Amino acid sequence: MTDKQRKILVTSALPYANGPIHLGHLVEYIQTDIWVRFQNQRGNHCTYVCADDAHGTPIMLKADQMGTSPQALIEQVSQEHQRDFSGFMVGFDNYYSTHSEENKHFASLIYTRLRDGGHIAKKTITQAYDPEKEMFLPDRFVKGDCPKCGAQDQYGDSCEACGATYSPVELKNAYSAVSGAKPIEKESEHYFFKLGDFESFLRQWVDKHVQEQMVHKLNEWFESGLQNWDISRDAPYWGFEIPDAPGKYFYVWLDAPIGYIASFKNWCDKNSVDFDEYWNESSDTELYHFIGKDIAYFHTLFWPAMLEGAGFRKPNGVFCHGFLTVNGQKMSKSRGTFIMAETYLKHLRPEYLRYYFAAKLGSGIDDIDLSMDDFRMRVNADLVNKVVNIASRCAGFIKKKFDGKLSGQLVEQALYNEAVALAEPIAAAYEAREYGKAMREIMHLADKANQYIDTAEPWVLAKQEGKEQEVQDCCTMGINLFRVIISYLAPVLPQVAEETATFLNIDGFAWDAIQQPLLDHQINKFKPLMQRVDEDKVNAMIEDSKATLAAIAATSPAAPVAQKTELEKNPVAEEISFDDFAKVDLRVALIVKAEHVKGADKLLQLTLDLGGDTCNVFAGIKSAYNPEDLEGKLTVMVANLAPRKMKFGMSEGMVLAAGPGGKDLWILEPHAGAQPGMRIM
Ligand code: MSP
Ligand code: ZN
Repeated sequence: MTDKQRKILVTSALPYANGPIHLGHLVEYIQTDIWVRFQNQRGNHCTYVCADDAHGTPIMLKADQMGTSPQALIEQVSQEHQRDFSGFMVGFDNYYSTHSEENKHFASLIYTRLRDGGHIAKKTITQAYDPEKEMFLPDRFVKGDCPKCGAQDQYGDSCEACGATYSPVELKNAYSAVSGAKPIEKESEHYFFKLGDFESFLRQWVDKHVQEQMVHKLNEWFESGLQNWDISRDAPYWGFEIPDAPGKYFYVWLDAPIGYIASFKNWCDKNSVDFDEYWNESSDTELYHFIGKDIAYFHTLFWPAMLEGAGFRKPNGVFCHGFLTVNGQKMSKSRGTFIMAETYLKHLRPEYLRYYFAAKLGSGIDDIDLSMDDFRMRVNADLVNKVVNIASRCAGFIKKKFDGKLSGQLVEQALYNEAVALAEPIAAAYEAREYGKAMREIMHLADKANQYIDTAEPWVLAKQEGKEQEVQDCCTMGINLFRVIISYLAPVLPQVAEETATFLNIDGFAWDAIQQPLLDHQINKFKPLMQRVDEDKVNAMIEDSKATLAAIAATSPAAPVAQKTELEKNPVAEEISFDDFAKVDLRVALIVKAEHVKGADKLLQLTLDLGGDTCNVFAGIKSAYNPEDLEGKLTVMVANLAPRKMKFGMSEGMVLAAGPGGKDLWILEPHAGAQPGMRIM
């Protein structure tokens, strides 16, 4: 390596403090962690900071809903996030929170500098307001019918049914998702960051510091004009109050990226590192942000413009990645493919996923797919059958026959040189975040190492008289190749690397150390480094994901506030045989008469005609139906249910209905043409 030691600061996006870490997030944190580990292995000085993104309306409302304070909520979630990240060996130097003194300081400082530089404007705007909860409503918290297609219960910004985008005031039958109240429109003065002031700076900056694939998208944004950015929110809001504007708060996205600075400052203070060396305008340290493509606007436009306007250094690169799909589809709670980090770790080893993501990641913004079968086969084929196998084929002979001592020579120097010559191309691939390419190179080398052992056949030699030296030489060769391979894989497989270092009796894997082979060197007993990925465990993880998501909502504050599906609320009952089913005699019935029952507040009395025979049924559907709306309609009844004596008379059957009760109750009605009395099978 020729470069002098670089000083690098790296960040991943700050996860929201109101949801759990899931495998989608991990694409990013694993991608970043690999890069950071690689840099340090190369001998650079690379620091990795992150934090929880702890402000904003959703966190405030979630705490409210859980009957706790936002502080208590974000503290608990921070613990959960850190537990999950460390479970996946994501090795932050500092994990902090945007709700911190440092962040308050830097948010105020940056805002004040922008204001003094003339980059803040004020304007009165009209917004949806919840008169009951007495708060302005973010678009996502206004719901109603889509103005384009009429689909019900759509969010205030876009329709999930037809894809239309609109503003919340356009929704029909709008209601507040917080209180259910009808929102009113209300005026308030907002503060805006004048992004347009930085257009020419940004056009130049973007060209050099953002991936090409992304620049295309950015050009579209430039073409449509850089709008002023609304950075204030009115009380009640969970965030930092704007210094010169009581009752107004910084919008969460203003102080979120400043959280990178704050987390780093917090780390500097604890470790006596010179903060200014990294953040002053002319710093010659390097700064990189890893983010998902969904938050590129914030990181490639607002963020560099804010830094420029406030006199801080700008990032050397903003690295966007694509989104994770599972089995080719968006992660889904009902399919069990919305997999939380915590659930994965109960069943599978983190390094499987680290390797799989590495094998699939490139430097671009394409989505990456986690296909469960491919995952299992890939990890087994590459890591278990190819890589670990090299060591297990050689280690036993060295231990047993040579007391753990490697021989003094490399019998295939050319092959070893070839392996070591890959150090630079593989480093270049890591550096460029072309991990997939790096993994292919490494697996190709592992193939060669296995071929070498196949040909040398130490297990055959071991049985032959006088071939001791050959056995020792060939196994020494194999183990040296194994060391080179693990050195290349160390950024991806930190635990395997650590255990390999113990096995090989070496300090670790400095990138250049492989230049010097291990000869006349004592190694330790080999322990299996990795088990195969077991299909049953993968399936168990999927099942667990389904179950956990249903159960977790109540217990963990980090659980997504998701609508439970009907099946989650009410799982399908135990299996029955056809004969069991056939015992139930379901019939089409005509409601000839429907009446209120004196003294009963839930029941309606129905007279049902089964094609000649009539019967009397008391049905608990009064909360949902007027009697006159039922008369003359067909429905479905259980005809052979034992009659039940009730306070108001005999009930001779049961009408079928769906729904939780109250107003939400719907009785079944057969399609037109069915006749009273027909049996339903
Ligand atoms: N809080 C903001 C980021 C603020 S950074 C100053 C946020 N948080 S997040 O929790 O929603 O996402 C954190 C990171 O994870 C983002 O970079 C996001 O793109 C990434 N991912 C979240 N879900 C993802 C997938 N399904 N796939 C890949 N990355 C994903 O955004
Ligand atoms: Zn629509």
